[in-house]
Amino acid sequence: MLRRLHHEQPDSFAFTPANRAWAEAQIDKYPPGRQASAIIPLLWRAQEQEGWLTRPAIEHVADMLGMAHIRALEVATFYFMFQLSPIGSVAHVQVCGTTSCLICGAEDLIGVCREKIADTPHKLSADGRFSWEEVECLGACANAPMVQIGKDYYEDLTAERLSFILDELAAGRVPLPGPQNGRFASEPLGGPTSLTGQGGRRMEHNASVDLARTIGDTIKRIEGTEVPLLTPWRRSGAAAEDVKTDGG
Ligand code: FES
Repeated sequence: MLRRLHHEQPDSFAFTPANRAWAEAQIDKYPPGRQASAIIPLLWRAQEQEGWLTRPAIEHVADMLGMAHIRALEVATFYFMFQLSPIGSVAHVQVCGTTSCLICGAEDLIGVCREKIADTPHKLSADGRFSWEEVECLGACANAPMVQIGKDYYEDLTAERLSFILDELAAGRVPLPGPQNGRFASEPLGGPTSLTGQGGRRMEHNASVDLARTIGDTIKRIEGTEVPLLTPWRRSGAAAEDVKTDGG
């Protein structure tokens, strides 16, 4: 698959103040002269902020790191995790199409995406609010088939359930991520067969789902204010302060 920059590009890019503070803290992790090592996290945060990687964003990151633009463009066009064209303004659905998910119904999930979003991947829905693509294994094979939407996983899916989730997102609601068939995590369908003594103390949701519910950033464009920015590696010497990103 040819990975090229999108034919339409915005004029400029700038990190939000909190994302900029986050980016500068990442650069500080590396010794002098090695700032380019921060390229992937900075490109990723630019994508989290905008939804996709624009040419101005890639060049902005390159300038922050003192890199030639072509070096940053090489990285952005190499990794499939970087979206080089606009994604849906509400959600981008990444359907796992690898073995476990494929034999458990991933093709049905892709059918839902073709029907409800667009006939081909990386194409915006008619209203511009959704897009989808097929991706390789996302590491949740025990909960196949599954999709990633924004930051979170929706697992143990059926076509009907994915269709419902898309309808909910279209209506402005974000269904709880995680297993969609009542499972807590990836225990056997019939219930746990080991470590059964902790049942009375179990949380309502598994840790990933609980975090998604607490932070509420499943499909959010990231501004950098979602979680506190802690920078313990800056504690030595003058740059000892943790950066507060409470928007104030
Ligand atoms: S095969 Fe789908 S998550 Fe691994």
